[in-house]
Amino acid sequence: MKTPNMLEAKKRHQGKIEYTNYSSNLEGFGKGKKFYVRTYGCQMNEHDSEKIRGMLLSVGFENADDINDADIIILNTCAIRENAHDKVFGYLGVLKHMKKSKKDLLIGICGCMAQEEVVINEILNKYKQVDFVCGTHNLDNLLSIIKEKIDTKKRQIEVLSYEGDVVENVPVSRDSKYSAWVDIIYGCDKFCTYCIVPYTRGTQRSRRHEDIVDEVKELVKNGYKEVTLLGQNVNAYGKDLYEDYTLANLLSDVADTGIARLRFVTSHPWDFTEEMVDVIASRDNVMPYIHLPLQSGSNKILKLMNRRYTSEEYLKLYKLIRSKVKDSSVTTDIIVGFPGETEEDFEETLKLVNECKFDGAFTFAFSPRENTPAALMKETVSEEVKMDRLHRLNEVVNKYSNEANQKMLNKTVKCLVISPSEKDKNKVCGYTENMKLVNIIGPKSLIGKIVNVKITDAKSFSLDGEYIK
Ligand code: SAH
Ligand code: SF4
Ligand code: F3S
Repeated sequence: MKTPNMLEAKKRHQGKIEYTNYSSNLEGFGKGKKFYVRTYGCQMNEHDSEKIRGMLLSVGFENADDINDADIIILNTCAIRENAHDKVFGYLGVLKHMKKSKKDLLIGICGCMAQEEVVINEILNKYKQVDFVCGTHNLDNLLSIIKEKIDTKKRQIEVLSYEGDVVENVPVSRDSKYSAWVDIIYGCDKFCTYCIVPYTRGTQRSRRHEDIVDEVKELVKNGYKEVTLLGQNVNAYGKDLYEDYTLANLLSDVADTGIARLRFVTSHPWDFTEEMVDVIASRDNVMPYIHLPLQSGSNKILKLMNRRYTSEEYLKLYKLIRSKVKDSSVTTDIIVGFPGETEEDFEETLKLVNECKFDGAFTFAFSPRENTPAALMKETVSEEVKMDRLHRLNEVVNKYSNEANQKMLNKTVKCLVISPSEKDKNKVCGYTENMKLVNIIGPKSLIGKIVNVKITDAKSFSLDGEYIK
């Protein structure tokens, strides 16, 4: 049994990161069994679920379309806010019942919650229905952990508090045939004071650029139209590995593969250089969509958050992006109710939102996380005030989302069609270059294609359009 330790997890890796290749000698071990994976977290977590499915499929397990048919259920968890926790623990209650009628059912936990000491202690004490836990740093070992559980019948908890190697060629079963996630940098060294990610995902480690480019070339060969480069802070790409190879170089090299659409998330203003803005502006296949988390408009709060920029610096970068990248859309993340946030601080946030007029924003009430500095800060904001600020912020944010969408009205834009519409069988769904969701009147045969669409109606969170031949 290996359990996590948050103090160990805080240490940054000093040694050289090894780059290894995935290997497994468990061929055929899953034959005749079915699995079900539930995902709770961010895009990196979703992509990890694709790897979990890929590894299981590679040894003969089959995907269960219905959770009731599964022999193994894996919860790929997220630790970013308390409500992510609550969802998982709540669901473990449901699974306990399922296990009563299905004795051999195996239940496993992966993802960021697995890296938390408090979570593991709770699982050890109260959640006996969990058969195995595999942390984020040794995900490539998942199959051996499951095998050990089956062979020994003993519960397996295998969580490392330090990051392992960068493992290439992990089998992956992608959810989409047209749009793919590609990891470029793991971990995070920013230590924003509210955030648990540097503890659950470890030291910042970049993948080698040639491995990334090779993966994208393969995706292009297999008909993929879109690639999204992933990292908690993609703009820090290369800093840990190269003297002078940055995200700007990587975007250029990946754009050269000929992929039709190239995206990247998430950006951190601190590492965002003008050179990067220029590459986004100048390459046709780098999409004009930037997710640029602000968090707060108050310099006092930004400092307490350890965000490393002022609201003025944010605004300067924001204006640079807007002026250079044609038809860009910019979205953001904002936290309200951080310890010490006064009404005046909150108003500074509103002021910046009014100035930036974001295309969209994910807004959150501050949630204290285990072992993070902000969780110990004294001047907490009451739940009532947090909720009030959240509502007021959302009103302003939604107003600008709507305004930005209205600007698209009557334009003819390119959309990558990704799925049929759930609500209307005469419609399909797609995304514009600047990442706006469009419900399109058109046949299912458009799925997987980039087509011209005329925008006929604009709402706060989506657009309507019709396919133009
Ligand atoms: N790496 C990204 C953030 C990933 S987490 C970045 O730095 O921009 C996604 C968002 O969750 C964050 O941008 C932040 O707004 C929010 N978040 C993170 N920790 C939180 C916490 N403890 N309470 C509330 N929101 C939080
Ligand atoms: Fe968390 Fe900050 Fe890292 Fe984003 S940059 S993952 S908010 S520590
Ligand atoms: Fe959640 Fe971990 Fe992603 S905490 S947001 S799943 S990196």
